[in-house]
Amino acid sequence: MSLNDLMYPLFVMSGENRKEEIVSMPGIFRLSIDLMLKEMEEAMKLGLGAFILFPAVSEELKDSHATYSYSPENFYLKALAEAKSHFPEAVIATDVAMDPYSSDGHDGLVEDGEILNDKSLPILSNMALAQAEAGADIIGPSDMMDGRVEYIREELDDAGYESVSIMSYTAKYASAFYGPFRDALESAPKFGDKKTYQMNPANKREAIIEAEMDESEGADILMVKPALAYMDVIHTLREESNLPIAAYNVSGEYAMVKAAAEKGWIDGDQVSEEILLGLKRAGADIILTYFAKEMAVRLSYRA
Ligand code: PBG
Repeated sequence: MSLNDLMYPLFVMSGENRKEEIVSMPGIFRLSIDLMLKEMEEAMKLGLGAFILFPAVSEELKDSHATYSYSPENFYLKALAEAKSHFPEAVIATDVAMDPYSSDGHDGLVEDGEILNDKSLPILSNMALAQAEAGADIIGPSDMMDGRVEYIREELDDAGYESVSIMSYTAKYASAFYGPFRDALESAPKFGDKKTYQMNPANKREAIIEAEMDESEGADILMVKPALAYMDVIHTLREESNLPIAAYNVSGEYAMVKAAAEKGWIDGDQVSEEILLGLKRAGADIILTYFAKEMAVRLSYRA
């Protein structure tokens, strides 16, 4: 496992000189753009080169159609642009889904208590286009609506963004491991759950079908999420596909290690390293992990 394999997720918020620790993710913060840039600079000095940004949006900016997501006012788009202009050599990935901006807290559009797949697609592609315009290298649809990779790919190509890649959340399971992330963004669903669009944890073959679909729709990278309880899926997609496979070592996986380490029950440094190594062994080419920076700090001591 090397630092080149790691992608470091950052939570961005509006304002200046703001830094709030996420209670359920010790060591991980919501940062205003200026402090996000500082964090990136430190991370890059340590040898990291890839980042994925998530927006923490305040409640009054949310609505049922997630309109703030592609508004020129959106601080997240400014964050992408600033990240790219300060660090042109960094790889900047985004998140495409309605939940951080949606007053319903769902990834797609809700009408009469139902998530509407097809009506969500134009909203998601508006979001993707705005992110590409802001300078993102990789668009990361995490919404799990059917057909969104093809829809977004076409819109990006039509607008001249052929070289912007799509990292599709191919096998994203309806998981309890996302809890701390939803705390970070205050993005938990206001009703129901995400089981109508995220995958059933019992199902492996669907992951293969989703991978084939995403590949034919034009995805450049396929992701499995969560990572730890789904290593078999990572391994299978690695065997079945020739695209790079990303594994998302999600918030709950980070929180478990931190909590046990705080209690002195495990050695958090060694356990996290073993986890990342395991994900690599399972076949992940890219690992999204909140451990990225501390891993980089440790490797710099060893160098
Ligand atoms: C939402 C999204 C989620 C994560 C990334 N994008 C949460 C969810 O689906 O509810 C979770 C990441 C993590 O837990 O670290 N579109």
